[in-house]
Amino acid sequence: MDKKQVCELIEQILDSGAFKRAVLSRPKQKQTLRADARLVMLKTGQVLQLASYQADGKALHRNVPREQAPQELIAWMLAQFKQLNLITTGGDCQIMANSQDVFHVVNHIRLDQAQKTQVQAHDAKKSYILPEAPTPFLNLLGVMDPQGRVYDKKRAKFRQINRFLEYVRDAVDKLPDKSGLCVYDLCCGKAYLTFALYYYLVEVRKLDAVVYGVDRKQDVMDHCAQIAQQVGFDRLHFSCGDIESVRPAQRVDIVAALHACDTATDVALAHAVKWNAQVILSAPCCQHELAGQMRADAQNGLWKQPLLRYRMAQLLTDALRTQVLELCGYAVSAVEFIDPDQTDKNLLLRAVRTAKILPRAKREALMNSYLENTARYGVSPTLAVLLRDRLEM
Ligand SMILES: C[S@@+](CC[C@H](N)C(=O)[O-])C[C@H]1O[C@@H](n2cnc3c(N)ncnc32)[C@H](O)[C@@H]1O
Repeated sequence: MDKKQVCELIEQILDSGAFKRAVLSRPKQKQTLRADARLVMLKTGQVLQLASYQADGKALHRNVPREQAPQELIAWMLAQFKQLNLITTGGDCQIMANSQDVFHVVNHIRLDQAQKTQVQAHDAKKSYILPEAPTPFLNLLGVMDPQGRVYDKKRAKFRQINRFLEYVRDAVDKLPDKSGLCVYDLCCGKAYLTFALYYYLVEVRKLDAVVYGVDRKQDVMDHCAQIAQQVGFDRLHFSCGDIESVRPAQRVDIVAALHACDTATDVALAHAVKWNAQVILSAPCCQHELAGQMRADAQNGLWKQPLLRYRMAQLLTDALRTQVLELCGYAVSAVEFIDPDQTDKNLLLRAVRTAKILPRAKREALMNSYLENTARYGVSPTLAVLLRDRLEM
C-alpha cells in the first residue's frame, strides 16, 4: 500500500466508530520507548490524543484535530516508529513501513462485525497515580514490560494498585505528623501493594518513611527483598513470620492488611489498634469464621440456605469489625476497592484514629448494638476477642 491508501484505511477505521486505540512500537530512536493514541472529546470537538513514553520516564502528550488524524499518525510513525497497530472492536490491523516508506499492512479488522465505541470526554480519562510508563519495580513484579506497557493479564492488578494508592493518598493527607513514617503491610504476599506504597510515600511524596512487609512465606519474602534491593528501595524491608509475632520497634503510623485470609485480618486489625496506628487500610477476604458459627435456625430460619448464610456472614463479619474499630476510637468507612466486576474481594475498610474520645452515651449505645447483633446471629468474632481489653467486655 502507498501512504495515501494507508491514510484512507485509517480514515475508514476512525469513521466506523470501532476504533479503540493506536499503538506505535519499534522506535527508531532510543529515547522513545513507545507511543499510543486515542480519540478524545474536547469542548472544541474530537481530537486524537497522542502520548509518547520516553526512556527517562516522561510522557509527552499532543492533541491533533480529528480531521488531520490519519496523516498525523502516519507522519508520526514514519518519523519515529517502524510499526503502527490499530486496535478496534472488530479486530486489529498491523502497519509496518520500510526505509523507502513502502507500507506492509496485515489487516484483520472486520468492520461489519465491529461494535461502536464511545469517545470519552477528555476529563473522563483516568489519570493514575502510577502512570502507564516505565516503572522498574512494576516490571520486576511482572505487571508491565520494560517499556511500561501493562500486561493484559495484569491490567486489573494495575488498576487495583492505583486505586489503593488513591486511598493511601487520602490517608496520608489526614496524618497529623508526616515525619518519620512507619508503615506495616501485614500478610503482604507478593507485595505489589507494599512496593506501590513505598514508591508512593518515598519516591512520589518524598516522605521520610520506612515500610515493612510481613508474610509467612519465606521464598516470597526473599524474592521481594531481592527486588527491593534491585530497585534501590533501601527503606523497604521484608520479613518472614506470622503476623502474631510482629513487634515494631517504633511508633506505627499506617497498617495495611490486604486480602489477609479469614481471621488473619482480625489479627492484623487487632495489632494495628494495639499499636495505635493512625490509619488502617484493610481489604478483608475469605470471611469464613462467622459462617461456621451462624446457625441455620437463627432468626427463625431466615438464613437456612447455606449460600445466603455464607454471604450474610461475610457482610456481618465486616459490619461487626467496623463497630469494634469504632469502639476502639476509629472513624471507619467501608468503600469499594476496585470495580465489583473485577473480584468479589472488593471491599476496603478504612479506619482513621480520631483524636476525640467517644462520649459515654454514644459508646454505650454502640456497645449495646454490637452485643445485640452478635447475640442475634449467635456469633463471637475474633476481633472482639483479641481486643477485649480495649473494649472492656
Ligand atoms: C491472598 S494473599 C494477599 C497478598 C497481598 N496482601 C495482596 O493483597 O495482594 C494472603 C497472604 O497472607 C499470608 N498470611 C496468611 N495468614 C498469615 C499469618 N497469620 N501471618 C503471616 N502471613 C499470613 C499468606 O501467606 C498469603 O501470602
